[in-house]
Amino acid sequence: MRILTGLQPSGILHIGNYFGAMSQLLELQQKGETFLFVADYHAMTTSPKSDDLRANVRRLALDLLACGVDPDKVVFFRQSDVPAVTELMWILNNVTPLGLLERAHSYKDKIAKGFSPNTGLFTYPVLMAADILLYQSDLVPVGKDQKQHLEITRDLAIRFNNEYGDVFTIPEGYIASSVAVVPGIDGQKMSKSYNNTIPLFGKEKEIRKIVMNVVTDCTPLEDPKDPENCNVVALYKLVATPDEVEEMKAAYRAGNYGYGHAKQALFAKLWEYFEPMRERRAKWEADPDAIEDVLREGARRAGEEAAKTMDKVRRAVGLR
Ligand code: ADP
Ligand code: TRP
Repeated sequence: MRILTGLQPSGILHIGNYFGAMSQLLELQQKGETFLFVADYHAMTTSPKSDDLRANVRRLALDLLACGVDPDKVVFFRQSDVPAVTELMWILNNVTPLGLLERAHSYKDKIAKGFSPNTGLFTYPVLMAADILLYQSDLVPVGKDQKQHLEITRDLAIRFNNEYGDVFTIPEGYIASSVAVVPGIDGQKMSKSYNNTIPLFGKEKEIRKIVMNVVTDCTPLEDPKDPENCNVVALYKLVATPDEVEEMKAAYRAGNYGYGHAKQALFAKLWEYFEPMRERRAKWEADPDAIEDVLREGARRAGEEAAKTMDKVRRAVGLR
């Protein structure tokens, strides 16, 4: 079974990304041959400055390795290092009805937010289909927001296969329903767009300050508190053991336990939880050439797969 997913290099990873997407990916890498790439072509749809794009790609590659992406198990590469994907996109454009893209939620949402769209943003789902089909992926783990893009991919693969013969594997999406939405420090969904994130990798002082700003009600210190509707407890559950969570809940109910105490406990657990990843990050960060080597080797292996598919595709459509 081939598992494939891409992550866009945009913004700083937060613990919502980690518990919502990356932890699932780290588990899946044990289960099948996994292809993972940094989607730098996709990131271009928001017109980043070139230096920012380069820096964001490097940081995401570093962060993913820090989190535990295993370069011996995973084909880990930069999307643009296998440019055949853009050729496949062009070919797929010709089996893509305009209406299919016009109905894409993520496109419509961006327009609704006043984004002035370029054609790249409009055809984004075709590039994503090319990513998935180029590597004959069976399973594609994505967040809920990408579900429609996956349906578009399946639609295009079926259309292409009907027209030209069985070239593409029809992929299945894998949307982990077990993953709860991680709340931000204000209780809304944690998201870089809401400025309510706890970064995965930050300085101790910075993270402590953010944790101390988690929003709570103003029940006085001595009064009992409701642990079920508290952002601090919700975040604590992600990083503490069930016993530790029960202990905190009991302290809430008993009173004489302030939100300040709970936040200190949350910070301590969070910091401890991500310690191994910080250590791994420091090692990779000290050796940027090693990261480039990993990405280059990933691109070589991905390129081999891409060449096989493109040979079939070109023959099928009459380019050979
Ligand atoms: P953001 O909302 O900060 O822009 P992205 O949309 O870039 O995050 O999300 C990247 C991945 O992380 C997606 O798979 C998404 O489902 C997951 N994710 C982001 N925020 C959360 C959250 N608060 N809870 C659970 N998963 C999340
Ligand atoms: N569009 C995805 C996102 O924003 C990233 C992505 C690009 C992707 N190509 C992909 C995900 C192929 C899965 C498969 O999250």
